[in-house]
Order: sequence, then C-alpha cells, then structure tokens
Amino acid sequence: MTTTTAGRVPMSTADLHAAVADPVLSSMNFLNEVMDRYPDAISMAPGAPHESFFADMDIGRYVGAFSRHLESRGLGEAAIRRVLYQYGPSRGQINDIIAEALRRDEGLDVRPESLVITVGAQEAIFLTLRVLHREPGDAIAVVDPCYPGVLGAARLLDIPVVPVAGTADGFDLDQLRQVGVAYRQRGRRVRTLYVAPDFANPGGARIPLPARRMLLDEADRLDLTIIEDNTYGFTAAADDRLPSLKSLDERGRVVHVGTFAKICLPGARVGYLIADQQVHGTTTAHLLADDITSAKSMITVNTSPISQALIAGMLLEHGGSLLSVASAKARLYRRNLTVLLESMDRHIDRSTGISWNEPDGGFFVRLRLPVPVDDALLERCARGYGVIWTPMRHFHLGTGGDNQLRLSCSSLSEAQIEEGVLRLAGFLRDVTEER
Ligand SMILES: Cc1ncc(COP(=O)(O)O)c(C=O)c1O
Repeated sequence: MTTTTAGRVPMSTADLHAAVADPVLSSMNFLNEVMDRYPDAISMAPGAPHESFFADMDIGRYVGAFSRHLESRGLGEAAIRRVLYQYGPSRGQINDIIAEALRRDEGLDVRPESLVITVGAQEAIFLTLRVLHREPGDAIAVVDPCYPGVLGAARLLDIPVVPVAGTADGFDLDQLRQVGVAYRQRGRRVRTLYVAPDFANPGGARIPLPARRMLLDEADRLDLTIIEDNTYGFTAAADDRLPSLKSLDERGRVVHVGTFAKICLPGARVGYLIADQQVHGTTTAHLLADDITSAKSMITVNTSPISQALIAGMLLEHGGSLLSVASAKARLYRRNLTVLLESMDRHIDRSTGISWNEPDGGFFVRLRLPVPVDDALLERCARGYGVIWTPMRHFHLGTGGDNQLRLSCSSLSEAQIEEGVLRLAGFLRDVTEER
C-alpha cells in the first residue's frame, strides 16, 4: 500500500466509478472556469436565465400566496407550518396546482398522483432512467448532439448511450429504427429515447407535428419509452405552439419532464415529471410515478417544500398558468434570439465558409466554421477577443461537433449581444484568414 508523506493513503481514480473521469461530467466546470478567468468577456456560453427577472422576485410574497391557498383549502396555521417546514411527501406537495396548469396550458389530462415534483429536470431525468433501465446492456438512444445532463446521468448509471443523428427538424427516425432492430438482434434493447421536441439544447431543432406522430408509432413498434424534455417549449410564440409528445401519447409511451428553472428561477431547483403509465407486477397495478417516487425517497427524500411553495405561489399569482408565468420571459428570449440572428447576419461573413442554423425558439444558435473548434480555440477567443462560447464537442458523442460552436443569448442584454457578435466576428475573420 502506498502512503503519502502526510501518512494518508492516496485514493486512485481506478477505485472510483468510471463516470467521474468522463469528460462529460467536467464540461460544465471547464466552462465555469473559463468564465471565471475572463470576467470581462461577454459570455455566450451558458443557457442561464436573464437576471432582470430576479429583480422583483419576492419569495415571501409567493410563499404567502401558497399559504393562503392552503388556508382556503381548510388548513390551519400549524398544518401550514408543517407543509412548509417539515419533511414532505416524496411525490411532492404542489402536484394538484401543476396538474391543473398542465391541463390548462398543454391540454394534458394528468392526475396529481401521476406527477412527481423533482429537484429540477435533471433529477427527473436521472430518476426516470434509474427506474426504467433494468437490464445492464439496454441502451438509451439520444439525439446527437445531446444535452450533457442526460449523457452524464446515463454514465453514472452505467447505461450505454447510442447516438441518433440530429437533423434540421429533429432526428433521423430511420436510424433510430435500425439501431432498435440491431439491438433486438443482439438480444438487447433500446429501452429509452431522450428527446427534446421543442428547440433542443444544443441542436435548436423543433420536431414538426407529423414527425411527432411518427415517432410515437415507432416507439410503440420498438417497445421503448420516450423521455420528453420540455425545457424550452415555453419560448414558442403563442400562435406557434405544437402539442407535446405527451399530449399525443395514447399508448403510454412518454414520460414527460419539465422544469421551472427557465420560467421561474433556477435557484429554486424545482422540476417535475409525468409518469402516468400503469405498471403491472407481482402486486396490484400501480403508477410508474409510484416507483419513481420510491426511488426519489432514497435520493433527495423530497424536493424542498419551501421551493415548491415559492413556485406554486408564482403560478397562483398568474392564475395557475405556466404560460402566463412564462410569457414575459418568452418574449425577451425570442427578442434576444432575433437580435442575435440579425446581428450575425450583419457582421459575420458567410462567404468564408461559416454557416449557422436559425431556430424559431430556445436559447441557442449553432455555428459551423471551416476550422476545427476546440477548447484551445475558445481559450484564445476569450483571451484575445473577450467573448466566450461553447465548443459543440462538449455535446457530441462522436466527431460531429468538431467544427462547431454554440452561442447562447438568454442571459445577455441586446447591447451585449450586439457587442458579443461584433467581437466574435472579428475573431472569426482572423481565424478564417489564417487558414
Ligand atoms: C435541455 C435541458 N434539460 C434540462 C435542463 C436542466 O434543468 P434543471 O435546471 O431544471 O435541472 C437543462 C438546463 O439547462 C436543459 O438545457
């Protein structure tokens, strides 16, 4: 046994779970470090909400609104204190308010007990994967490029990840079919598919309605469960919303995941999932949400009751509507995206082989460059040009992102977006001229 001079036994990464050495788990830290090192740079890297919305945040008022709601339901002072300050039910305690909001806004007919209130969408994804994946070799299919939170969760759970190529309007359904069939032939199964149908992070694609229906049919044929991530759906214009996969799901193929991070505040760490599937087993039939609730009770026990109260209070102040609470934010994010795309059009020269997508919503735009894009190039841009972005390699399973970067516009002012694009344009000019 090796000991250090201080007499302590060193620990080796070989003794730890392999996921901790996986680059996907450290990509967020890397970007945070770059931002810390260049505090004056304009950061177009994180998909963080705009901080102007925090200015009139009144936590006491929101918790008060929820307390009055409980009072109107007949709870006395002591009972209300218990709801706010005690351990709470693992399934959550604002399920009825969220179920009603989903009915109103998304046309989703869900019973409160089919919902689990989670510590952000991230916990919802993690728990869903944990509960749905039984056999060690069964895979999760993801659209490549993919939100790293899903890749990290799968790695931590030892779930093999199989990429399906992303396209301008979603992903390659034929490829999903082929992969699903190939797994079956090997005695394995693609058990889940993670997909964000509305303005995926980082791809930006939105799946059209007919393709949503085809995807549900394919999920049925392949006998897989879709994990639908609805994080950026709220940024669609009111007259341009598409039904979620969950609202089209007649066969119980979809677990729907949502978050209040972008429409309320990320600091509350509140998300939710809908798992209304009937599970038949050795005991009586029950809901998939029941099993996910049991798993949650062993991880985070319950989502902070105070955070749940704060989110419920915000919703109640907006007539119990998710879309109403989100509307001012959605307007700002759509405006920021327009400003970003217009200023890219004005300042970035496409004739040098640079191209980009033009999403209708979400927080992100992807640029393709005629040169390799890696962390060293980002470092050079941050140091010399004062603008930070994310190399798309951080989101890809293969080499697909090697020439791409992601820009985010959610947390910036219009002036910062303009200035960021100007700086980026200067950098791109220099980099492409060097070729
Ligand atoms: C696509 C997607 N899903 C989920 C999350 C995580 O959400 P939460 O903060 O609720 O855990 C994010 C965060 O940026 C995201 O981009």
